[in-house]
Amino acid sequence: METKRLNILVTGGNGQLGMCLRDESRRSPHRFIFSDVNDIPGLETLCLDITDRKALDLVADSENIDIIVNCAGYTNVEKAEDEISLAELLNATAVGNLADTMARREGSLIHISTDFVFDGSASSPIPECAEPAPLSVYGATKLAGEKAAVGCRSIILRTAWLYSEYGRNFVKTMLSLTAEKPVIKVVADQIGTPTYARGLAALIVHIIDSGQIGKSGIYHYTDEGAASWYDLASAVNRLAGHDCQVLPCRSEDYPAKARRPHYSVLDKNLVKQTFGVSIPWWQDSLRECMDKLSK
Ligand SMILES: NC(=O)c1ccc[n+]([C@@H]2O[C@H](COP(=O)([O-])OP(=O)(O)OC[C@H]3O[C@@H](n4cnc5c(N)ncnc54)[C@H](OP(=O)(O)O)[C@@H]3O)[C@@H](O)[C@H]2O)c1
Repeated sequence: METKRLNILVTGGNGQLGMCLRDESRRSPHRFIFSDVNDIPGLETLCLDITDRKALDLVADSENIDIIVNCAGYTNVEKAEDEISLAELLNATAVGNLADTMARREGSLIHISTDFVFDGSASSPIPECAEPAPLSVYGATKLAGEKAAVGCRSIILRTAWLYSEYGRNFVKTMLSLTAEKPVIKVVADQIGTPTYARGLAALIVHIIDSGQIGKSGIYHYTDEGAASWYDLASAVNRLAGHDCQVLPCRSEDYPAKARRPHYSVLDKNLVKQTFGVSIPWWQDSLRECMDKLSK
């Protein structure tokens, strides 16, 4: 029996996860439409602001959308402490719009959330059933977004510490800093898992292509292993062949408005068992991304 060709709307399609999805969806039999609030010259993008409910409904109906993959969001953790309303609008209210639209169309939503919904008091990998307790405005608005996303059939993927060859991210910043500076200090008392956004994009395409979109729920997805920001910066320095001296420091030495969890390693057993995927170790993913960046 021939499978139906699905129409998939990606929001935030010019962000780093959206860009990785563009790459990973190339071989999918389904039709992916990439949208974002702003145009980037040379990139095919449908202009769509996810806070504009009317425009969203219009696009969903005219393009006959079956699935929305929401890669849009307010992602500046520091600025969110000051721009609370905007963070709420993008990370929670707009997610409610997306869920309403897909509920009306009897479609599905794949929504991306974060390890920052947790307070960092755990000491072993955190399962999906653990109680969230966000420390920051960003974390609180993302948690509200998770609640809004269940207004339709939805898969919520909590991820962490994303990097890729696209956009601005910690790995690219460290690549520049370790090239320019003889010494840098990096926080060593926050433990999580660096995650190549390409792997998350591949998981999303796999869920859709393998017909598993109906498996609603919250799932944790990061690369395997655990590291501090200091470990990650040191690995970037080493892999790039730079001779910068990377020194560890404490969170208190690095003044920040938003509080961040000290430990936010996520347990990935559920996503692996449910969708039949294996996950690479963060060091292998980092090497792959840095190879791409060096070309
Ligand atoms: N980055 C991480 O480390 C990390 C960790 C855990 C979870 N996540 C989650 O993963 C998802 C993707 O993150 P990312 O790193 O790919 O984010 P990103 O690079 O900041 O991309 C977000 C995209 O959303 C767009 N956008 C902003 N306002 C919009 C609106 N009103 N309507 C439509 N699009 C809008 C942004 O456009 P402009 O740039 O023009 O504003 C940007 O292209 C987010 O939900 C984020 O919370 C990220």
